[in-house]
Amino acid sequence: MKILGIETSCDETSCAVVENGRRILSNVISSQIALHRKTGGVVPEVAAREHVVKIIPVLEMALKKAKIALPQKVAPSGRINRLAELPLGLIDAIAVTAGPGLLSSLLIGVNAAMTLALIYKKPLIPVNHIEGHIYGNWLKDETPKFPAAVLTVSGGHNELLIWKGHGEYKFLGATLDDAAGEAFDKVARLLGLPYPGGPEIQKAAKAGDPTKYPLPRAWLPKNPFDFSFSGIKTAVLYLTKKMSPRALRQAKSDIAASFQEAVCEVLATKLANAAKKYKVREVQLAGGVSANTRLRELARELLPSKIPLRFCANLTLCTDNAAMIAAAGYFRYKKNPARYKKWRPIIADPNLELRAF
Ligand SMILES: Nc1ncnc2c1ncn2[C@@H]1O[C@H](COP(=O)(O)OP(=O)(O)OP(=O)(O)O)[C@@H](O)[C@H]1O
Ligand SMILES: [Mg+2]
Repeated sequence: MKILGIETSCDETSCAVVENGRRILSNVISSQIALHRKTGGVVPEVAAREHVVKIIPVLEMALKKAKIALPQKVAPSGRINRLAELPLGLIDAIAVTAGPGLLSSLLIGVNAAMTLALIYKKPLIPVNHIEGHIYGNWLKDETPKFPAAVLTVSGGHNELLIWKGHGEYKFLGATLDDAAGEAFDKVARLLGLPYPGGPEIQKAAKAGDPTKYPLPRAWLPKNPFDFSFSGIKTAVLYLTKKMSPRALRQAKSDIAASFQEAVCEVLATKLANAAKKYKVREVQLAGGVSANTRLRELARELLPSKIPLRFCANLTLCTDNAAMIAAAGYFRYKKNPARYKKWRPIIADPNLELRAF
């Protein structure tokens, strides 16, 4: 079964074709990073306008790369007509991110998917973006095992859960304020590093001493599986405020390393504790921050050696992409195909919660 996935929840326009939820036939991502660097972060209106420009070229490229032949003639008449000329005959269903994310960005992908599903009479599957990140770990040869302890750690989300089976989650905790990715981005800004901050902090941290600044770790005894990163962000703010521009430039690597160490230590410790408490068969990292090499290293160190640690080695599968949405859509569809047969409008929801399916 070939599923066309569409993802536009934030600042990546992405379309992919995935076979049977596991095999990527194409995964085209048009990133807006260069655009948002100018403002140091995503401006929703700017992101949405860029999705409008990119969605059809990205769709066409994803279909072409998946060898779902392009139409012979593309009408020069305009975008809407071109949607009706895409060769979707070989596609079995369309999966799209319905939320969470920026509403104005979500709407572009959701409307493209609804239009295509209506024209071509294909099942239409709304997917939760975070569920997409989790299913990114199925886009590999080895089959994941249930139950798994999963840490979703991205720009806007930070959750710890036990994944019991397809669409079955037990929630252990989430962030009470900022997600780890958001903290990476904000601290990078304080250090004068460009957007997105995560990879930049990782790079700067290589030359730094992680023990130089003892930054706070929020262990949160009330629910030790919850997270909080606003305290460490404020600690870095006060630390950098006291420094002259020259001193800050000199301390940049040490601050980056100390910050990265503190955040990763908290994330990896809580994940390892959850894995031990719930006796899982494997542990998974999902979302943009799972690209962080120190987080992967620490998680491996803290986990009992017999528990496998899974993450996407391919960095493009850690951050936003449509292949993960197609994968999640496949497993949703397989569980209840009848639910998706009849065309129904999708309501894009910026705060969509992860629920059982
Ligand atoms: N190597 C890295 N180390 C730490 N953080 C990283 C790294 N690479 C990417 N990130 C962070 O990952 C985040 C982007 O991930 P992702 O694309 O999954 O988030 P998002 O889609 O913006 O948010 P969400 O998935 O919660 O809606 C950014 O905050 C970025 O700084
Ligand atoms: Mg994301």
